[in-house]
Amino acid sequence: MKTAAAVKNLRRLMGRNRTELALIGHVVVLTGLFLYFFYGYPLIHLGPEQPIPFSHRVHAGDKNIACLFCHSEADRSAFPGIPPVEKCLFCHQYIIANHPEIQKLHGYFNTGTPIPWKKVNYLPEHVFFKHQRHVRKEIACDRCHGPVETMDRLSGEKFQMGFCVNCHKEKKASVDCWLACHN
Ligand code: HEC
Ligand code: HEC
Ligand code: HEC
Ligand code: HEC
Repeated sequence: MKTAAAVKNLRRLMGRNRTELALIGHVVVLTGLFLYFFYGYPLIHLGPEQPIPFSHRVHAGDKNIACLFCHSEADRSAFPGIPPVEKCLFCHQYIIANHPEIQKLHGYFNTGTPIPWKKVNYLPEHVFFKHQRHVRKEIACDRCHGPVETMDRLSGEKFQMGFCVNCHKEKKASVDCWLACHN
């Protein structure tokens, strides 16, 4: 009986304060949405944090360093390659040599440890992709990787079969290549 009375009381209160409650409800929901889009949303597509916060925006964007300068195997081999620490030091021996992140580079170099970069892009298992065939056909990097030169931290991508097949159809490339792609 007591609870019934309490519920009744609550109902009466709610009825009286309906506009206030509605207002508070809206504020709570809007704040939640704002926080989600401001902090959560940009992270959903971001790849893993890297041991050194290397920025493609600074290097490939602002400083206009060519993709192939660092990923120099892209037109010659299946894998474009990630530049070794020596290539970073080619510039950073002189450029901002005392920056704490560049000091870390020297640490890797002096101990002969490769920088443990984390892989960003994935293919489903048993799919094999070769860069050179595509790059030599003058398919631009951003066609598959997006505007990398605008990104500080790269966005992760798991390429699905539709991504390969759609373009193969469009460019009239072989689609029975699935025999060749799946190993
Ligand atoms: C100064 C050297 C440098 C330049 C120039 C550069 N990159 Fe990179 N790239 C790196 C390094 C180092 C990594 C590994 C760290 C990371 O993922 O951010 C990387 C990673 C990547 C990856 C992700 C690899 C993975 O793990 O799947 C892609 C894709 C990529 N680069 C594309 C490009 C493209 C496209 C350009 C030109 C617009 C470019 N890069 C220019 C150094 C460079
Ligand atoms: C062709 C020259 C060149 C190469 C190669 C190069 N960098 Fe840089 N890097 C620069 C320049 C120029 C800047 C901007 C310096 C400034 O702000 O004055 C820079 C800035 C940076 C910064 C400063 C942080 C920031 O985002 O502003 C870091 C960290 C860095 N580079 C890491 C690397 C790593 C790691 C590699 C190797 C994968 C690399 N760089 C290869 C030229 C180069
Ligand atoms: C036709 C689509 C396509 C094009 C064009 C392309 N890539 Fe890729 N790239 C991929 C796929 C798919 C992967 C993941 C491959 C894997 O995990 O084996 C990848 C992976 C990479 C990686 C990581 C390789 C590794 O060893 O982990 C780098 C670096 C890269 N691409 C750079 C480039 C650069 C630079 C260019 C332009 C010169 C380029 N890509 C053009 C589709 C493409
Ligand atoms: C943006 C367009 C595009 C995308 C995306 C693309 N390809 Fe291709 N691919 C081509 C073109 C064009 C050729 C033909 C190249 C030639 O004739 O040398 C080709 C050729 C190939 C070949 C060689 C075919 C043969 O018969 O020897 C293989 C294997 C292949 N692609 C696999 C893949 C895989 C796997 C993916 C997805 C991870 C993919 N491609 C994504 C455009 C694309």
